[in-house]
Amino acid sequence: MSKSNHETKRRVCPWRHVYTFDNILRRLFHNTATIFGPYVKAGMTVMDVGCGAGFTSIGLARIVGRKGRVISVDLQQEMLDILRKRAERAGLADLIQLRRCEADSLGISDTVDFVNAFWMVHEVPDTREFLRQVHACLKPSGKFLVAEPKLHVSSDEFQKMVVTARDVGYGVWDKPRIAFSRAVVFLRA
Ligand SMILES: C[S@@+](CC[C@H](N)C(=O)[O-])C[C@H]1O[C@@H](n2cnc3c(N)ncnc32)[C@H](O)[C@@H]1O
Repeated sequence: MSKSNHETKRRVCPWRHVYTFDNILRRLFHNTATIFGPYVKAGMTVMDVGCGAGFTSIGLARIVGRKGRVISVDLQQEMLDILRKRAERAGLADLIQLRRCEADSLGISDTVDFVNAFWMVHEVPDTREFLRQVHACLKPSGKFLVAEPKLHVSSDEFQKMVVTARDVGYGVWDKPRIAFSRAVVFLRA
């Protein structure tokens, strides 16, 4: 069976381009406390997959606090290096664990309460396999937020991803409004 366009795209955002969207202006339209607050609580263990330079990892660390933990995962070591410096400057480095992964393998054996995949699912080589690997990391009733950029992901492509996710074993928990994004929160069924 041939894979859909969504499943075969592989345009990984080069680390040198990260400041085009992860810059000082982003906080004007992406408030991480508002985005994650309904799903993430103090003390939780969360995973930020495709964390990039860490805008969302930093926001998640502020919510989970000293008793929680953020596992930040990315393909590109350069992204993780930027995040490490950013976390040190914010005094949050001890809450954030950096993990480098492969394009087709997260390599994470931890189980977590919440997963964030922000503007990254359209970059993974095999959507179904990625969703399956995230599913294996989530605790029962854990939540998984996917936000995709409207600029790169059509409504049809996003719906195909949601259908695949249902097939893998997720239920749809919420459909939050996030600027410039198509977003869904899945529940691990
Ligand atoms: C557009 S950036 C978004 C970064 C971050 N989530 C944010 O919102 O600022 C996409 C990120 O996903 C990462 N990525 C792409 N494919 C990946 C994969 N298969 N596994 C893990 N990370 C991946 C890229 O290296 C890049 O850092």
